Amino acid sequence: MKKIQISPSILSADFSQLGNEIKRLENAGADMIHVDVMDGHFVPNLTIGPPVIEALKKNSSIPFDVHLMISPVHKYIESYAKAGADIITIHPEATDNLEKSINKIKQLKKKVGISLNPETKIEVINKFLDKLNLILIMSVNPGFGGQKFMPQVLEKVEKLDRIKKDRRLNFDIEIDGGIDFENSKLAIKSGVNILVSGTTIFKNNNGDIKKNIDLLRSV
Ligand code: DX5
Ligand code: ZN
Repeated sequence: MKKIQISPSILSADFSQLGNEIKRLENAGADMIHVDVMDGHFVPNLTIGPPVIEALKKNSSIPFDVHLMISPVHKYIESYAKAGADIITIHPEATDNLEKSINKIKQLKKKVGISLNPETKIEVINKFLDKLNLILIMSVNPGFGGQKFMPQVLEKVEKLDRIKKDRRLNFDIEIDGGIDFENSKLAIKSGVNILVSGTTIFKNNNGDIKKNIDLLRSV
């Protein structure tokens, strides 16, 4: 059983204090930082790009789990790798050659993740599972923090976990969107080992992010 890791989403952080917010998360025991990159095209929202990631990475010592909600994504992969992304997660719908994009991320010596929207089936990535370090199961439609968790995606997590065990693969299963102190337990039981959370970590218990991270991690 893999150790449960917490990857706080900075989408819910105070964007005027992002450097300090990342330090706070590190000191509060975050295992990595979930950076939601949005381009206003793949999703109807726009956040940050490589220059901001590069500046933030300089002051951080934990991995950057970069979730690219951008399309077309292939031509931008290198700039996120150079900016300091440690894990680069892309959506299959955002590239016209998924294998080429996966190989590009691996060539850049970064961990490669694929993110499946609630409607996207595992079959889309079946033949690449042995190349992946991480599969990110979206439990909301991507674009915004603070949305309602979609419990139907847990079936997809269970199916993915069965495939992983049957084929003796070792990828991480990460879930992202509407995660709270109750559904996090269901997600872990279904096979998730990395929890992404923005709202629950930053907004609960008067913003006590260490308490919220510890609560999420406690199974
Ligand atoms: C949505 C993002 C999620 C989101 C999670 O597109 O990918 O990471 O920020 O935020 P909460 O935990 O607030 O749902
Ligand atoms: Zn995300």
